[in-house]
Amino acid sequence: MKISVVGTGYMGLVSGVCLASKGHDVICVDVVQDKVDLINNGVPPIYENGLKELLQSVVGKSFQASTSFKESILNTELSLIAVDTPFDGFSIDLKYIRQVAHQIGEVLKGKNGYHTIIVKSTVVPGTTEEVVLPILEEQSCKTAGIDFGVGMNPEFLREGEAIADFMDPDRIVLGGIDEKTIGKLDEVYAVFPNSDKIRTSPRTAEMIKYTANSLLATLISFSNEMGNLCAAIGNVDVVEVMRGVHLDKRFSPILESGERVFPSSLSFLAAGCGFGGSCLTKDVKALIKYGEDRGRDMAILKSVIETNRHQPFEMIRLIKKHFLALKGLKVSVLGLAFKPGTDDVRESASLAVIKALKDEDAIISAFDPIAREETEKALGLNAISYADSLEDCIRGADVILLMTSWPQFKDLPQVLEKDSLAPLLIDGRRLIDNTFVKKYEGIGLS
Ligand code: UGA
Repeated sequence: MKISVVGTGYMGLVSGVCLASKGHDVICVDVVQDKVDLINNGVPPIYENGLKELLQSVVGKSFQASTSFKESILNTELSLIAVDTPFDGFSIDLKYIRQVAHQIGEVLKGKNGYHTIIVKSTVVPGTTEEVVLPILEEQSCKTAGIDFGVGMNPEFLREGEAIADFMDPDRIVLGGIDEKTIGKLDEVYAVFPNSDKIRTSPRTAEMIKYTANSLLATLISFSNEMGNLCAAIGNVDVVEVMRGVHLDKRFSPILESGERVFPSSLSFLAAGCGFGGSCLTKDVKALIKYGEDRGRDMAILKSVIETNRHQPFEMIRLIKKHFLALKGLKVSVLGLAFKPGTDDVRESASLAVIKALKDEDAIISAFDPIAREETEKALGLNAISYADSLEDCIRGADVILLMTSWPQFKDLPQVLEKDSLAPLLIDGRRLIDNTFVKKYEGIGLS
C-alpha cells in the first residue's frame, strides 16, 4: 500500500521504515528540510537500535522522506499522523495534531478518490473522533465514512527495542470509525499475519494505549511502595518478597512439562529508585487530568505519580543513614539514562537525585555509557563532572549510587575488590550480588 507518515520523530520514522521494509511504499513527511535530507541520505536524526541499518536497506527504494506535504498525501492512499503531543505537566497539547488535520483536510478537498487518515500519536480518548474528524470534514468539505476513513492505531514501542517491537508486535490495535477504515488498517498490517489484532473504535484504541502504560507505571509504584515498607520493617528484603509473589502460578504459569514460565511483565513488579522516560509519567498524568475533567477522581494513578516522585529520594535517605551531611561528600552516580539501552534522560530518577545532591553541595562524579551528552543538554554544561569509565567514576568515592541497570554495572563488586575500595554502595536497581560488597544498601532492604 502507498502510505504517508506525517512526522519523522521517533515513532513516525520507526513506523515508516518498518512498514517500508515489510513491503509497503512509504513517504515520511516533515517540515524540517535538514531532517528530510539526513533521512534520504540514510542517516536517522535520532538514535534507535538497528534503525540506521534498516533505513539504509529501504531508502531510495520503498522509502523516502519529503517536505512536500501535498504531493505526499495526493500520492498515497493512507496517512499516519505521527506528530508530537507536547505535555505541559498536566494535559497534552493537540496543536500539532490539529495543524496536520487542517493540512490533510485541505489536500483532501482537491483529491479524487478515497483516503484514510489514521492517528498514531498518543492522544486522549475521543481526540480522533471529536477533534481530528471534524477538522478533516470542515477543511475538505467532504464526509467522513463516505469520502474518507478515520482511525486510530496506537503504537507500543519501547525505546531501544522499537524496531524489534514493531517487527514482532504482541498486539496490533486497529481503531476505525467504520468497517471500511478497519479494512484499510487490516491491509496495512496484513504483513504481520501472526500478531493478535483488536478491531475496535478509535476511542477504545486511544484508551487501550493509556490503560497499558498506566498499568505498567502502577506495577512499578506498587512494588516501590512495598519495597519502602520492607525497608522499614527490619530484616526483610523486597527482592525475596517479590520472588515469593512472582511464584504464584497466576503470575508465572507452570506448563504441562512442569517448566515454569516467568513473563517479562514480572520485571515491572520489582522495586527500584523510580520509573522514568518520556511516556509513562506523561501518559499517567494526562489520564489523571482527563479523568478529573470527567468527574472521576483518579486516586490510584495520583498515588502512582506521587510514589514515583518520591522514589529517587529513597537514595538520599539511604545516604543519610550513613553520613550526617552531604556537603563535601564524594558521590559517584552510575547511570544517567532512565533505563539501559538508551541515552534518553527525560524523567530520569538519576537526574532528580543529582539535583538533590547538588542542592546539598555534594561533590558529584557521574558515568553513563551513552547518556552524557543528553544529560549536559538537560542540566547545562559543567553542571557536574563526568567520568569516562566506571573505574574512573568510583575512584575516591565515599558513596556510589547505582541509578540505571546497565548490565556492565553488575561487575561493580569485582572492580571494588580489585582496587581495594570500600565506599558505601547504594543499589537503586537491586542489580548487584552484594555477597562480597563491604558496605551495601539497596532499595527495599533494611
Ligand atoms: C513505554 C512502554 O513500555 C511501551 O509499551 C510504550 O509503547 C511506550 O512507553 C510509549 O508509550 O511510547 P518506554 O518508555 O520506552 O516504553 O520504557 P519502558 O521500557 O517501559 O521503561 C519505562 C520505565 O519502566 C523505566 O523507568 C524502566 O526503568 C522501568 N522498567 C522497564 C521496569 O521497571 N521494568 C522493566 O522490565 C522495564
